[in-house]
Formats: sequence, structure tokens, C-alpha cells
Amino acid sequence: MRIGVLSHRGTEATYRMWSPTADYLTRQVQDHLFEIVPLNFDRVDPTVAAGEVDFILVNPGIYVNLEVRHRVSRVATLNNKIGGESHNQFGGVAFTRSDNRDIHRLADLRGTRFMAVDKTSLGGYQMIWGELMDIGIDPRQDLSSLSFGNTHDNVVMAVRNGEVDAGTVRTNILERMANSGQIDLAEFRVIAPITTDNFPFLKSTHLYPEWPFSKVQHTSNKLAQQVAIALLNMPTDHSAAISGNYAGWTIPLDYQPVHELFRKLELPPYNISKKFTLRDVVKRYFYGFILGSILLILLVMISSWILRLNRELRKAKLCLERQHTLILNSVADGIYGVDDSGNSTFVNQAMEKITGWPAEEIIGKNQHELLHHTRADGSPFPACECPVYATFKDSVPRIIQDDIFWKKDGSSFPVEYASSPLKDDKGKTIGSVVIFRDVSDRKKAEEQARQHLNELAHVTRFNTMGGMIAGIAHEINQPLTAIATNAHACIRLLDSGEDQSEKVSDIIEKIGAQAERAGEIIRQLRSFVRKEEPQRLMVNINTIIEETILLLAPEAKKSQVSIELNLDKTLKKVPIQTIQIQQVIINLAQNAIEAMSEVAENQRHLTIATAAAGNNAITVSIADTGPGIERKVAEQLFNPFVTTKTRGMGLGLSISKGIIDLHKGSLFLNNNSSQGATFRFTLPLNPGGELNAK
Ligand SMILES: Nc1ncnc2c1ncn2[C@@H]1O[C@H](COP(=O)(O)OP(=O)(O)OP(=O)(O)O)[C@@H](O)[C@H]1O
Ligand SMILES: [Mg+2]
Repeated sequence: MRIGVLSHRGTEATYRMWSPTADYLTRQVQDHLFEIVPLNFDRVDPTVAAGEVDFILVNPGIYVNLEVRHRVSRVATLNNKIGGESHNQFGGVAFTRSDNRDIHRLADLRGTRFMAVDKTSLGGYQMIWGELMDIGIDPRQDLSSLSFGNTHDNVVMAVRNGEVDAGTVRTNILERMANSGQIDLAEFRVIAPITTDNFPFLKSTHLYPEWPFSKVQHTSNKLAQQVAIALLNMPTDHSAAISGNYAGWTIPLDYQPVHELFRKLELPPYNISKKFTLRDVVKRYFYGFILGSILLILLVMISSWILRLNRELRKAKLCLERQHTLILNSVADGIYGVDDSGNSTFVNQAMEKITGWPAEEIIGKNQHELLHHTRADGSPFPACECPVYATFKDSVPRIIQDDIFWKKDGSSFPVEYASSPLKDDKGKTIGSVVIFRDVSDRKKAEEQARQHLNELAHVTRFNTMGGMIAGIAHEINQPLTAIATNAHACIRLLDSGEDQSEKVSDIIEKIGAQAERAGEIIRQLRSFVRKEEPQRLMVNINTIIEETILLLAPEAKKSQVSIELNLDKTLKKVPIQTIQIQQVIINLAQNAIEAMSEVAENQRHLTIATAAAGNNAITVSIADTGPGIERKVAEQLFNPFVTTKTRGMGLGLSISKGIIDLHKGSLFLNNNSSQGATFRFTLPLNPGGELNAK
């Protein structure tokens, strides 16, 4: 059995004092061997908690802690041997010098210099502290100074020497020191002395029980009983008692007064302050409190800064949004955004106005289904072919010049629009933005201009023909003369009565061919002066040129101009209004023929050539060997009414330019005065097609 003993005087002394008591118990209690385990102050609690001892002998202060925390229970109380007598209680005594006139009652200690033995000393501090608290004095605050002398003797001497005004020690100390001649009791006066029967020593406090011998929780009651009986039976003069400097044991005393004292002084295990004030917190966690306060202030500052920043950001955002909306709404073109599923994300006011769809009805809806469902020719427009969809799929911007959108009221309008990819911060395409313009007015104006041009072209064709008609009439006259001559020859052959049928059929064949030739020229003439349907046909430009030559040839012949054709046979077909293009060729050729009248007859050559111009267009050039064009005239050549001819109207080139523009091609002059002039025009193969904006 292990008996833990508080070793307040060192391990050696503890063994020496208490081993005889252990041996005594080993002898008295059968079948058990007792041994002493000296424990310093710090080891007591963990050792008991771990159940490493079976009994424990400690001072009353520690005992009440163990009782509360580990449920140890006392089996006997020590009889202390004091001055040859046995006492199982002790107290504290407060005293001052006998010549001190001010201190008589405990209340007089307020504001004095006071010395006690140690903070943890029950008799040498805590008992008198309890008495002072009862009369409202807190020695930690209400004294002018509170010091600790570490030993009882030091306290007594400090009071005697006047280092302090008063002091406290446990009972019997003054008497012991007086007996040993260290002091004279007459030098001291006990403050507020209390007398108790059977207690001979001077004291100022109540009495409290001496050290208890206790069993820990796991020790059986039966063994505890056997130990208690053995201890109580120990004679006061037993050698074990003498070694331990005590006078045997008595029945366990009541330790409730110690509990109450500790509760009053808020000492462990009762150190949970009931009144836990802010001041206590500050005192106990001063640095934490300061740090916490600084952090709190910082936090408040940062929070208010963030709040302000947030407010400013929100204001800036609002301002930006307002500006953004203002800009969007001040644009006359319709603007809307679509996400990557094709649903509208925003629209501007112009878009609402143009389409008739209010923002709330279009946002979040599929734009293609609302605006773009049907093509101009009435066929359905599948979303997968929509350029806006294509834009957010391949992130390539597009400009579409010829399309239609549908309004809420079911009508459509011509549009030209640009669809650009909309990217997020990381550059990922998340949709597209479409800017569109209702081009109804422009289309109307274009249509009017086209009609005007058509009319004008038609009128001027008559004029052109006027100049060419003599030559053409002559040209037709030739086959007619040949037909007449051949017809006469036929008649003669038939009249001869011989069988000339073979010859006759040869001649009739020639007549047919001549009639065919004359008929073709007239057909061309008729088609040239008729009003053309405004539709484009896919035709081979070389054929058009060859047909046009039929009309030009007589004029050229008359003016002694040779015509050379240099045609690229591999050309693709182009969409054109044939008569208009014919008119351009005739205008340019006529100008060339007229210009070449100024040069020698044998140097009049007209060359008409065709070639591909890249993959998407063809080019036609009409070159002459005339004098070329003066720079001054060249600058305004294509303006109407610019002419150097007395009978010219100055309309040929301006009409030609208008026609080529309508075909989305271009007409220009390559002038070289030494070699004559070359006019060139291009015609796109796909004029209405999609143009990528890059
Ligand atoms: N191949 C050419 N060589 C030299 N000058 C030319 C040539 N083609 C045009 N010009 C000049 O440009 C002018 C304008 O030509 P344009 O065909 O528009 O009118 P025009 O021939 O004078 O009259 P018209 O209305 O009868 O055609 C001509 O008057 C002529 O001076
Ligand atoms: Mg002309």
C-alpha cells in the first residue's frame, strides 16, 4: 500500500519522519505492506488523479482540494505535538508591537504595513485573511503594504524590528520563540485575541483541524477501516509518533471550516469568481485584452474602410451602368447581346423601337426564334446557319450586309448588321453582341437610283443606237443584198429547165445563212433597246462580248478600227443584267473608236480582253490605241456631262460607272498617253455574299 505524503521539508525528512508510521501500519494491518511516497506540492494532485497511491497525508488546504476534485476521504486526523502537548487544531495570530498605539482591532489594520508568512500558508496568512474579509478588509487592496516573510520567525522579527506595523503567524509560534528566549512576549500585543477552552495559545482566528490521513477513491472501505483502527490505537508516545513529531491520531475532524474559508477567499477549488467583472478580465488577460482591443479597433477600421470602399465601388458601378445604358440608348442603331445559347442578355432602346419588342419580352428569349426565323425568300432560317450563332461558336466577327429581321408585328425589314464575339476576363467567348441598322430607307433610295439609272440607261441606249444605226443598217443590208442576188440566181437556175436541184439547194442554204445573220443583228438590236427586267442571270461574260461585237462591228469597220478579242475561256459565270453590261461595253468601245479617229488608219486597234480577277471576280478590259486621256479630263471622267466632243452628251462613262457600281464591281481607267487608253471593269462572282469583317 502506498501512502503519499506531502514532503514540504524534503524527501529525506519525509522518509525519516513517516516511514516508522508505515512500518507500524504494516505490522497492525494484516497482509498489507505500507510504504511512504514523498510527493512535492506539484505532484500531489496528478498522483492522486492517476490512482498511484492508496492513502494520502497532506495539509488541510490540499485535502479540501482533493476531497472536491478526487473524492478522497479522511480516516483520521493528526494529533500535533506542540510544546509537549497534543493538539489536533490550530489557528492564526495577528500581532503588533506592544508599544503600537494605533492597532487594537483587526479593523485598525486598514492602511498599515502588514507581513504574513506565505500566500499559501493556512495558519500564517489565509486564516487571518478570512477574518479580515469578514470585516470588509481585503488585505490585497486595503493595506498600505502586504509582504511575506517566508518563515514564521521572519515575520515575528520584522514586527519586532518595526519593519512592518503588524504581522500574522500560526498559533504557538510566539510562545515557542518566547520559550526559546528569542523574543519576549511582552514586546507584542495580540490583535483581537480570542480564547477557546482547552486551547492554550494566543490566537486571533477560529481554529481549524490539523492534517488528515485520507484514503483515495479506489481504496476499499474495509482496508480504510483497518487503517483507521490501527492509527486511532496508536499510543501517543509510540516510537512512530515520536519519529513523526506527533502524538498519535484522533477520529477524523470536520474540515467544513476549511472549505468555507477557501470558498470565502475564492481559493482553489473555489476560485471561480462569482462576480466576474470586466476589471477581473482586464487584470487576468491584460495583454490578451490589449491585443484583442487593438485587433478590434483594427477590425473596425478595416471594416469601415471596406464599407466605404464598397459604397464608392457601388456608386462607381452605378455610374458606369448608367453611362453604359446612356451610351447604348443614345445610339440610333439597334444593339443587343446574346449568350452562348442564343438567348438575349441585353437590348438598347433603339432595338426596342425598331423591332417593336419591349426589353422585358425579349431578354432571356432566343433571339433567332424571335428576330431571324425566316429568310427574305420566305424559307425557314435554321439557327445553325445564323451568323450570330456562328460568331459565338468560332469567335470570328461578321458583317452581314443583306439580311432581314422580323418585327413583333410580323413584318420584316432589311438590315445590315455586325456580330462580334463577347469575351469574358479570360478571353473565353461567352456570347456575341449584335449591332444592326434598319436599311429600309437606304434600300429604297438604292432601288430608286437603280430605276433612274435604268431609265437613263434605256434612254441613252437609243442615243447610242442613233450613232450606230447607219453602220448597222449597212451591215444588215449586206445579207439582204446577198439574199436578193442568190434568190435571183435560184430563179435563173430553175428557169433554165435543167436539173439544177443540187446547186439550187446550195444557194438556198446560203440564203438561209444570210437571213440568219441579219436576223441575229436585229435580235441584238431589239434586245439592246428594250427595257430590261431588273434581274440578274448567271452568264458567261465572253458570250455577252461576242454578241455585243455584232452591234459594234459595223461602226468599227466604218471607222477602220480592227477589233481583237482576247477572251479567257475558263472564266466562271457571273450574275449580271446582260443588257446593262452590254451597254457598258458598247459605251467604252464607242469612246475608243471615236478617240482613235485622231490616229492613222492603220493604227486603230481595239482590244477587248477578259480574265479572272482573283477567285471572286472577273475583269474586262477595253484598250485602244488612241491619243489617251489628258489628266485634267481623266480626273472628272466619270462625272456626268463631261465631254470633249461637240456631239457628245458626256453621259456614257457616268452611266457605265453607275451600272458597274450596281453590280458591286468597279470601273477604272488605265491611261497611257503613248499607247492609248485602257478602261477596265471588274464584276464580283458573288456580290450579295457574306463579307467577313477582319
Ligand atoms: N478611250 C478614250 N480615249 C480618249 N478619250 C476618251 C476615251 N473615252 C472617253 N474619253 C473622254 O472622256 C469624255 C467623256 O466620255 P463619255 O463617254 O462620258 O462622254 P462622251 O463620249 O463625250 O459623250 P456620250 O454621252 O455620247 O458618250 C469624252 O468626251 C472623251 O473626251
Ligand atoms: Mg461616250
